[in-house]
Amino acid sequence: MSKYIVRNNGPLKGEVSISGSKNAVLPLMAASLLTSEKCEICDTPALRDVDVMCSIIRAMGGKVDFDKDSNCVEIETNTITYNGANSELASKMRASILVMGPLLARSGKATIALPGGCAIGARPIDLHLKGFEAMGVKIWEKHFDGFDYVVAEAEKLTGCDIYLDFPSVGATENLMMTAVLAEGVTTIQNAAEEPEIVDLANFLNKMGAKVKGAGTATIRIEGVSKLHGTKHHVIPDRIETGTFMLAAAITRGEIKLKNAVASHVRPLIAKLKECGAIVREEDDGISVCAKDRKLVSTNLKTLPYPGFPTDLQSPFMSLLVTTEGTGMVIETVFENRFMHIAELQKMGAIIDYSDRKAIITGTDKLQGASVKATDLRAGAALVLAGLAAEGTTEVDQVYYIERGYEKFVEKMSGVGADIEYIE
Ligand code: EPZ
Repeated sequence: MSKYIVRNNGPLKGEVSISGSKNAVLPLMAASLLTSEKCEICDTPALRDVDVMCSIIRAMGGKVDFDKDSNCVEIETNTITYNGANSELASKMRASILVMGPLLARSGKATIALPGGCAIGARPIDLHLKGFEAMGVKIWEKHFDGFDYVVAEAEKLTGCDIYLDFPSVGATENLMMTAVLAEGVTTIQNAAEEPEIVDLANFLNKMGAKVKGAGTATIRIEGVSKLHGTKHHVIPDRIETGTFMLAAAITRGEIKLKNAVASHVRPLIAKLKECGAIVREEDDGISVCAKDRKLVSTNLKTLPYPGFPTDLQSPFMSLLVTTEGTGMVIETVFENRFMHIAELQKMGAIIDYSDRKAIITGTDKLQGASVKATDLRAGAALVLAGLAAEGTTEVDQVYYIERGYEKFVEKMSGVGADIEYIE
């Protein structure tokens, strides 16, 4: 099992460039299935999850060229020979569900293995399926070769009003990608408002779709008959941005994050300022300085965008382990996203928690330990804690981290972190 060895090397200092967003590029790649023409997606991060999505599209007969030097991926699916994400691939990540909407819009049929991904909760897809059914899709379950599949078929897709019981990111994206080729107008109410939703809407409109209201709670889509290929640059990754901002804070260092978008991380900027860090928004990025500053604890509650992002909950908790005072963290988005607490406690963190609320008492006595990543962001949180702990920290199961952070070791080392990758 591959691992990172992390040693406290004092305050981080320097510049880091933020890569394209994992959670934006995965739906964009799925959306390219909506046309038989070539789509080119630039600033695509070289991540395991992107490789898996490439494999899924290839398995369906698509032509995919991912040039990792230029970070551009070209996708052309003039024929779709298999309309589904097969079990072996789908089990590797949650985002595989995102090919369902485009496949239904393109070919009227999709067979999807129930998606995998991190173990941060049940991860149901009921909101996706309810929206598909509202548009005229017939759905049933199948079980074969040891996997559960969802089968969906639609003679015709008809636009309609859909209300999402929860502003699910994936359900909003999937339903947008179906509605763009449905007959008539679809409105998605209580839609997710994340920047990744806006990036998808921009991509779809460049393909000839008519999507309005992305970034608000109500998205209106007027179906068109055909979409064409396009070229698009992915937005920067706001969660990688937040992770490096917190790396500066937890080591009491100062880092300039180039290509970072301040408006995508407003809640984190506010929380870091509450703790006493200095955050400056510049034309080409964000600077975070905690050098020689006494940081104090604060409270946070995760919420759908524009609230505090659940993906930064565990990295922020690592910071609260080191700040003066007591902080409270409430996780409202996923029901099981505190697995990093047991690992932080191995390092001497003082955390009490039950259900979705954690109380963290700051300490300056964090000790290095052997810990393991339990999900993508918890892994990053443990690396941050290792940067601040005395001694050496071994973080195991780092394949989770490599699903979502491009060149993580290289970038961390680039700002002075003592971190090495062990096969
Ligand atoms: C996306 O996951 C992200 N993944 C997640 O990032 C992120 O944590 C999440 O949005 C919330 O912001 C990608 O974009 C690939 P949801 P998604 O549907 O779409 C419940 C990372 O670390 N729900 O908004 O799966 C669900 O159980 C990953 O990069 C239903 O109940 O998230 C959860 O409690 C982790 N029924 C809540 O909604 C449904 O049909 C939020 O899920 C769908 C979701």
